[in-house]
Amino acid sequence: MRSPEAKARLKAVSYGQQKVVDAPVTFIICGTLAAHEQLPHALQPSVDAGIMDQSMFDGWVSMAKESHPDNPQLQRDEAFRSASLAAMTLMFAAQGMGLSTGSMSGFDPLGVAREFELAATEMPVILVTVGYPAPGNWPQKPRKPLDEVIEFA
Ligand SMILES: Cc1cc2nc3c(=O)[nH]c(=O)nc-3n(C[C@H](O)[C@H](O)[C@H](O)COP(=O)(O)O)c2cc1C
Repeated sequence: MRSPEAKARLKAVSYGQQKVVDAPVTFIICGTLAAHEQLPHALQPSVDAGIMDQSMFDGWVSMAKESHPDNPQLQRDEAFRSASLAAMTLMFAAQGMGLSTGSMSGFDPLGVAREFELAATEMPVILVTVGYPAPGNWPQKPRKPLDEVIEFA
């Protein structure tokens, strides 16, 4: 989202949050539903490169075909997992370039899908604003101690 027109449309479906207009760019990070349909296409290059053999390819594709089609919850879970990883990677990459990011779940997913003509299999998971740190920005808020968020079994 870079043009003023697209930013205005995004703001309207993001509860009026001004940051999507102020940021030079906002990414709509989408997860893919029915990802099993794309799996053969996604794995084929690994077979061609000799990284994966045909029996592994066949096994993975048939496993996905068995488990995914009738399980919308699983499809949604996988979409959220993949999109969350993509969002965090984007945020770290931006930070590495000296930029600031803001993750946002404050948007109407149906509105975003409608405004940006997302395919039925594209689920908007999170918005990430990227830009330059503004003077007077909040400092990073305190983090929980590690032992509160990690448990070894
Ligand atoms: C999943 C998620 C959704 C968020 N959604 C919004 C949002 O819609 N609007 C907003 O202003 N902040 C939102 N935030 C908070 C900001 O992204 C916040 O600035 C961010 O957590 C960075 O703060 P910190 O690094 O100081 O903890 C969200 C945070 C998370 C983790």
